[in-house]
Amino acid sequence: MEIKLKCIECDKSTEDGVTCRCKCGGLLDVVLDLDSLRGKVSKELFNSRLGSRKFPYMSGVWRFRELINPLLSEREIVSRPEGNTNLYRHERVGQYVGIKNISLKHEGENPTGSFKDRGMTSGISEAKRLRMNVVACASTGNTAASLAAYASLAGMKSVVFIPEGMIAFGKLSQAMAYGAKVLQIKGNFDDAMSLVQESSHELKMYLLNSINPWRIEGQKSIIFELIQQFDWEPPDWVVVPAGNLGNTSAFGKAFYELAELELIDKVPRIASIQATGADPFYRTWKGNLPGLKAVKNPETIATAIKIGNPVSWKKALRTIKLTNGLVEEVTDQEIMDAKAIVDGSGIGCEPASAASVAGAKKLRDAGVIDKNESVACIITGNILKDPDATINYHLSKLKEISPRFANKPTVIEPTIEAVRKEIS
Ligand code: F0G
Repeated sequence: MEIKLKCIECDKSTEDGVTCRCKCGGLLDVVLDLDSLRGKVSKELFNSRLGSRKFPYMSGVWRFRELINPLLSEREIVSRPEGNTNLYRHERVGQYVGIKNISLKHEGENPTGSFKDRGMTSGISEAKRLRMNVVACASTGNTAASLAAYASLAGMKSVVFIPEGMIAFGKLSQAMAYGAKVLQIKGNFDDAMSLVQESSHELKMYLLNSINPWRIEGQKSIIFELIQQFDWEPPDWVVVPAGNLGNTSAFGKAFYELAELELIDKVPRIASIQATGADPFYRTWKGNLPGLKAVKNPETIATAIKIGNPVSWKKALRTIKLTNGLVEEVTDQEIMDAKAIVDGSGIGCEPASAASVAGAKKLRDAGVIDKNESVACIITGNILKDPDATINYHLSKLKEISPRFANKPTVIEPTIEAVRKEIS
């Protein structure tokens, strides 16, 4: 089988499998040979691997191996294993959003606590095939945690570029603990992103941000697994938080391939949700602008998506067009209130993840999503990633946010009377 890395701008294939951009500067796509896959892959094949204990099929990524990276041998696959994340339904979430048929796919259940593991198993495995020794990324935290873990698992060195003082502690602690070389950049994520691109090129480090097309291939499995959980009958909408736009890009490619292979007969609309203070993709899409309207000093409590100049915006725009989708933005207040609802339902997530639920609510309130439509929201990261945001919300300590659903702890004397007073 042939796999091509093709430029999305000039359509030329590249022979060099290591760089992430075409000579013309365009982003690269992995182009699978769908003709030769037709007939070879089926719902039955993927269903037969469900619950398998066999490597690598126990992974919710490699269960779809033929659609991720058919060239890899089993020795080259580096897997924890990842995926197999749950779909949750909860009346409280449905009532809050105003949609009965709403499910949350919890990508925070991945090995390092975010969806990044799906792209990372794919990216690190390709790095192994290419015999790379050093891998690198810029990150708002989760990519760094995931890269550090998978690199150590594979026996590679990892270098992570993070904006100093701007990432949640849970994520920073993971990157340090898993053994990455942590470079704290005096600047924001966008500065770190441009520095890692320059450094990886000069210093021969394999770049594993979602600009790497193999990351996108792995992240497609969120959709493959979601649709399998829906018994191959897609919902009307898929709603996803959006920062550097890797997921939005991956989701469109996944649906394109599923439709081409006739594994689904309808493509859901994708709603990509940004935070109001970090909304370059929203501004670009809303204004129908020819180029990206970058945001110079992005600001949001959802530090995972605090990004002003997302690298994958052209691929993401392709997804929005392909799926008749849309881009929306939500305020920090809306994000934190939605998070409190998701948390209070026993599901739990980090702030950026709640952007999907807040976005679904906003689109429902505006009548864009009908109350009878089915909606899947992607929950991208685990509640434990950013305990500061959670605690400060409940203690009313967040600037410019009034917590509608605060659950403040009380300090009491160690007596039964004091307990009785509190619980009566
Ligand atoms: N949610 C979480 C929890 C994230 O960590 C990220 C991105 C996103 C949403 C946005 O996804 O970039 O595919 O649009 N985090 C990256 C990182 C940027 O470095 O961990 P996206």
